[in-house]
Amino acid sequence: MSARIASGEEGITEAAAALAAGGVVALPTETVYGLAGRALEPRALAEIFAVKARPLSDPLIVHVPDPAWLDRIAAPGVLARRLAEAFWPGPLTLVVPKKPCVPDLCTAGEPTVAIRMSAHPLFSAVLVRLGEPVAAPSANRFGRISPTTARHVLEELGDKISIILDGGPCVHGIESTIVHIREEVIHVLRQGPIPPSALAKFGQVSRVATGAAAPGMLKSHYAPRTPMQWADSEATVGGRVGLLAWREARPGFAAVEILTPSGNPAMAAANLYAAMRRLDALDLDLILAERPPPSDLGDAILERLRKAMAPRL
Ligand code: TXA
Ligand code: MG
Repeated sequence: MSARIASGEEGITEAAAALAAGGVVALPTETVYGLAGRALEPRALAEIFAVKARPLSDPLIVHVPDPAWLDRIAAPGVLARRLAEAFWPGPLTLVVPKKPCVPDLCTAGEPTVAIRMSAHPLFSAVLVRLGEPVAAPSANRFGRISPTTARHVLEELGDKISIILDGGPCVHGIESTIVHIREEVIHVLRQGPIPPSALAKFGQVSRVATGAAAPGMLKSHYAPRTPMQWADSEATVGGRVGLLAWREARPGFAAVEILTPSGNPAMAAANLYAAMRRLDALDLDLILAERPPPSDLGDAILERLRKAMAPRL
């Protein structure tokens, strides 16, 4: 099979029809591209895991067509409901107690389900047409860099799916912020476009250390094939080395990608994965990455770079 890149009204119709028939399709979201299948249909979920080569122990995010679905598939408390009202549609994923209609396959047997509502107009149009939630992990092979364009999806999964709906480059470029609401405290499981300071207006925020033994907390992730290291590390470096620079180029590298010439963290996030992919395509011996200056989004980028450098599982 070779995937076709579809767009516009025709693409929406085709994608919704393929989902209704039980298939999986790649859809754009405002964060990264997702690999979608009907969330309440175990066979579609099994296909998502198979296409990504994702372990069944790693649960999927459910994307809902409208906020009313939160109560239909989960049992959110007051705080989770308020967060959904404030941030949906948008890049915030809520982990809340699930209802029995959500298959165990979707949540990897957990009693909770991760839920978000995407703000991307094409994603939203497909879901409204379908009339039910889809599960959608990032549309990359397991452990690899998340795709932020339709072409990235084609490179990752082009031989395994039939339709990629093209919505252009993703606005945020990094995955949604994931929060687990427990005992009315907001536990941040994955940093992302919604910063802790925005969440703190709604309740107490606690950060969960990365690398913890919980779903979604795998140490190695977002990984290029080329080894990566911090640019300020002490290690001696030989061979052809690429630089993932924050603001400006430096001499002495075989290739340089600059994330944000103006020093804007949102721009750096939007460019991050495409820049990593371009460097990864050059057969370099090593990629050195500069640390983002401290900021909310800088921290989210740092978390992803750290995982890209972690030893493979
Ligand atoms: O922005 C995003 O969230 C993108 C787009 C496509 O929506 N999706 C995404 O999905 O990043 P994925 O599968 O690549 O990452 C979801 C993370 C996984 O690390 C998974 O372990 C975690 O969410 N997760 C899912 N359900 C969970 C649960 N019930 N409890 C804790 N973590 C959960
Ligand atoms: Mg992913």
